[in-house]
Amino acid sequence: MCGIVGYIGKRPAVPILMNGLKRLEYRGYDSAGLAVIQNETLWLTKRKGKIRGLERQISSLNIDGTPGIGHTRWATHGEPSKINAHPHTDCTGRIALVHNGIIENYRLLKKQLQAKGHVFQSETDTEVLVHLIEMFYKDDLGAAILKALQLVEGTFGILVISLYEPDRIFAARRGSPLVIGVGDGEMFLASDGAAIVEHTRNVIYMEDDEIVMISSEEIQARNLKDETVIKSVEELPFDLESIQKEGYAHYMLKEIREQPRTTLDSMRGRLLLEEGTAKLGGLQNVWDRLRKSRRLIITACGTSWHAALIGEYLIETLARIPVEVEYASEFRYRDPVLSENDTVMAISQSGETADTLAAIREARCKGVLALGLCNVVGSSIARETDAGVYLHAGPEIGVASTKAFTSQVVTLALIALALGRERFLSAEDGRSIARELKSIPEKILGILEHADYIRTIAEKFSHHHQALYLGRGFNYPVALEGALKMKEISYIHAEGYPAAEMKHGPIALIDKNMPVVIIAVRDGVYDKVISNIEEVKARGGWILAVVNQNDTLIRERADEIVEIPVTANCLTPILTVVPLQLLAYYTAVYKKCDVDQPRNLAKSVTVE
Ligand code: F6R
Repeated sequence: MCGIVGYIGKRPAVPILMNGLKRLEYRGYDSAGLAVIQNETLWLTKRKGKIRGLERQISSLNIDGTPGIGHTRWATHGEPSKINAHPHTDCTGRIALVHNGIIENYRLLKKQLQAKGHVFQSETDTEVLVHLIEMFYKDDLGAAILKALQLVEGTFGILVISLYEPDRIFAARRGSPLVIGVGDGEMFLASDGAAIVEHTRNVIYMEDDEIVMISSEEIQARNLKDETVIKSVEELPFDLESIQKEGYAHYMLKEIREQPRTTLDSMRGRLLLEEGTAKLGGLQNVWDRLRKSRRLIITACGTSWHAALIGEYLIETLARIPVEVEYASEFRYRDPVLSENDTVMAISQSGETADTLAAIREARCKGVLALGLCNVVGSSIARETDAGVYLHAGPEIGVASTKAFTSQVVTLALIALALGRERFLSAEDGRSIARELKSIPEKILGILEHADYIRTIAEKFSHHHQALYLGRGFNYPVALEGALKMKEISYIHAEGYPAAEMKHGPIALIDKNMPVVIIAVRDGVYDKVISNIEEVKARGGWILAVVNQNDTLIRERADEIVEIPVTANCLTPILTVVPLQLLAYYTAVYKKCDVDQPRNLAKSVTVE
């Protein structure tokens, strides 16, 4: 979604802003712009389309001023266009502002401002902010921003520069992340640490309802009640190398191939082989409450929601605690019935997904224990939950989530194992699952060796317009995830179903033009899945089956098979998903799709 960058210091701002915006491209956007203070004028440029266009547009200009602010926009209010792109300016052209988030009461504010004579250029909700600041400005920009924000409902991460106070940048946040990078006589700002990590790893995370005045040497923070806030400097938990492609054609491929390491990192120091259990430091303070929960509600969106479904199977199977899985967007608005013995757990790669964050807030309002499973360290969900576990998968840049998913499932397996061992699971069973978990990274490595073969299947897939993904039990959510990966990056319509549900409707679609991907590993429902395969074959369907090594029964029936090593039933999703990620990736490559930035999608969905 939208991205923000800012710079103040001795160097010209433009190259730093452009570079930062490029680092945020992965988040998805449709237009971009910059504003810089140069020779006592406010220079501004913006444009619809990719950053490359903006770069060409300014390459011949000699803009070497500072400070400056930049933005990539993902349209919500008003079409993607030059006029609607940020930065936006006030009527005098002396104040420029970039904004992430949504101003919910903008219509009312706009009417009031127009009645006072303010002239609006764009259709955006954002523009009201800069006119409000203009209206309140007397001789103190910080005070004007404070007054403006006190009137605003909704979410914002904003940066403001102005000719009134040309040696500073103001930043404020509510619900949209902002981080300040502290350099030597210079400061950087961004909505995502990836935009500034090459300059500094010393950062200050802004909290909700804070407004910060930043000069090249100092930072002064206040809250929206105008009280002083003391901020501390932390270290960004990743380096420049980890956000680069390192020779891969796409981030998605790099991240798929990283999974032997990232799944290992998710287990590191947490898996206790001898005791046959796991220890999760982030949950220790609340462990007793979690263990005694009468019900666990896991809430998430998209791929993280698929991981949550696997978590439901894992925790119910190993720990016998009832689990419900809810789309965060539904949970937050349906006044859920919660009791003090419930625990709500949010799963989110980014830790910033607006609906998931709101679901956690809803849970906390109702007094239940709120936990977070996040990848991004210091993210809003990580900070707003009572306790939680980091995935340690490293930065995920590809819009289609891959390594975060397998780390989510590994982490859920660790939680289920630890809970199970304190409830019903024997030491022997615990040790067996722990051993299997330990061998997962090596097994993923083995699956990745089939990448070239999967690429040949993908070529066939790329000629189709639709596909059906089927799985049962632990692998039903993997069917959903495989279908989601295929549709989001290759634009082939794909549906995931529990295999047995096929005959209640989707079977009507099956003919020779409908590829069917079936996850058919030797688990408790293997024989049933073979029957489902027969049903597809009988109707002329084309079948790709994900099977265990040395499977002969399905080899005879399927058109193509991909083999995965044997593991514990409850851990198979961590393996079966890998060939489906590769299949989606190579299909998208054959179709010449923009794999890392699929159309209309954003990496972190910070609006409802
Ligand atoms: C799909 C994908 C999305 C995200 C969803 C939730 O590949 O990436 O469906 O899973 O937007 O995002 P997080 O996990 O950041 O809350």
